[in-house]
Amino acid sequence: MLLPPLSILLGLATCCSTLDNGLLRTPPMGWLPWERFRCNTDCKTDPENCISEYLIKKMADKIAEDGWKELGYEYVNLDDCWSAKERDSQGRLQPDPDRFPSGIKALADYVHSKGLKFGIYSDMGNYTCNGYPGTTLDTIETDAKTFAEWEVDMLKLDGCYSNSSVKAIGYPKMSIALNKTARPIAYSCSWPAYEGGLPPKVNYTLLGEICNLWRNFGDIQDSWESVLDIIEWFGNNQEKLQPAAGPGRWNDPDMLIIGNFGLSYEQSKVQMALWAILAAPLFISSDLRTMSEEAKYILQNQLLIYINQDALGIQGQRISKTHRFEVWKRTLINGQFAVAVMNNGTDGRPRPFATNLALLGILDCKEGYKIYDVLEQVFLGEFALNTTINIKVTPTGVVLLFLMPLCSSTYFTKPILRILPLEVQ
Ligand SMILES: *[C@@H]1O[C@H](CO)[C@@H](O)[C@H](O)[C@H]1NC(C)=O
Ligand SMILES: *[C@@H]1O[C@H](CO)[C@@H](O)[C@H](O)[C@H]1NC(C)=O
Ligand SMILES: *[C@@H]1O[C@H](CO)[C@@H](O)[C@H](O)[C@H]1NC(C)=O
Ligand SMILES: *[C@@H]1O[C@H](CO)[C@@H](O)[C@H](O)[C@H]1NC(C)=O
Ligand SMILES: *[C@@H]1O[C@H](CO)[C@@H](O)[C@H](O)[C@H]1NC(C)=O
Ligand SMILES: *[C@@H]1O[C@H](CO)[C@@H](O)[C@H](O)[C@H]1NC(C)=O
Repeated sequence: MLLPPLSILLGLATCCSTLDNGLLRTPPMGWLPWERFRCNTDCKTDPENCISEYLIKKMADKIAEDGWKELGYEYVNLDDCWSAKERDSQGRLQPDPDRFPSGIKALADYVHSKGLKFGIYSDMGNYTCNGYPGTTLDTIETDAKTFAEWEVDMLKLDGCYSNSSVKAIGYPKMSIALNKTARPIAYSCSWPAYEGGLPPKVNYTLLGEICNLWRNFGDIQDSWESVLDIIEWFGNNQEKLQPAAGPGRWNDPDMLIIGNFGLSYEQSKVQMALWAILAAPLFISSDLRTMSEEAKYILQNQLLIYINQDALGIQGQRISKTHRFEVWKRTLINGQFAVAVMNNGTDGRPRPFATNLALLGILDCKEGYKIYDVLEQVFLGEFALNTTINIKVTPTGVVLLFLMPLCSSTYFTKPILRILPLEVQ
């Protein structure tokens, strides 16, 4: 039996050292309000949708009741616009009293009572992006302490209303302050997104040492154009971005907008498939109360989540781009692979695409591979390295393939046995 090196089995980082808080060994999964609910503070006329403890509790209920939690979606987080416009008399952040009458500690307790984790938001700067009190250099320690007292499990630290020098001091300082609280708090840094996302302005080695995840690029909007922009940017800059990711430190292409208004069913599959290839955090930003069965079907695809959560934590890469087909590949544990073929064209029919394992650079197992269509949930068969793989990809759609080597059945891990039909095992 050919065993991979121990470091690979244990998913140890080979490149960079990682923030030592033991958290997020796989990309975080959960729910974030921002993309869908924005800064809606109007609880008078829109009580069901305003940013409030009511909304967060409702989402926590849905995550716990509708099968999300079992699949790994565990963080229920706040984003901007939760706080009051002023700090309290002791200089601490405090929630808006009308929208969060029970306070943040009680809200965290509620989320925890559902077996979930709770995250909060602040901004390394004078104000948050929507004009609420920010975390300035002199309030970092107070805020870290406040969040720990509230039993927060994750902090997203945005970067509006500050300059590069304040950020360069503030983000590492918050990392130390969080550590000093002794509470494990996952740390999401928006810092690189404010510096163009690329070296030399962004130092990804440093980010991996102080943050668990970071937004690299602009905010996602509810449109296919926005999803394509993000995919294109991650593809174009993958040499710089890909090595930065690993267990405990993730690139974040931003929230999942599946279940909202802007994406078709096929386009929704593209976002989910590419986010799995990119080892991206999976934060759903949509209304779980009204989500369609179709959206849920995509977001709850177990094998896709298994790919996203792969223990090696190696981010995938775009390996080819021709005739508006893009092929993306991710190396997974136990000799497995995921391959996404995206049809970026609008030619109105499913377009045929032919390849083989050799062309995909998947040659490790000479006997060949079993291939499974993840989104259609169909077993395609066993393929030798030179056998043609024929697929059809819908306009602005994707086919996501999962490949298992024929030569190493001993590698099969328990989770995969529960997910895959017998023919694939
Ligand atoms: C703080 O950092 C130390 C040393 O890097 C680490 O061992 C410890 O687990 C960290 N604690 C928290 C709460 O992150
Ligand atoms: C933040 O506030 C400080 C102190 O009032 C001020 O000097 C600075 O210009 C402000 N920065 C931004 C980006 O607004
Ligand atoms: C950045 O902001 C800080 C504090 O607000 C200020 O002291 C500093 O001069 C600013 N630096 C630059 C390069 O603008
Ligand atoms: C990036 O950060 C790392 C770790 O802090 C440091 O060793 C390295 O010198 C930095 N690189 C640059 C180009 O500043
Ligand atoms: C999509 O198609 C356009 C036009 O051919 C191309 O420029 C782009 O790189 C493709 N990929 C993405 C992710 O937008
Ligand atoms: C494919 O590979 C097998 C051995 O792996 C070989 O016998 C066969 O001739 C090859 N077929 C083609 C079309 O190259």
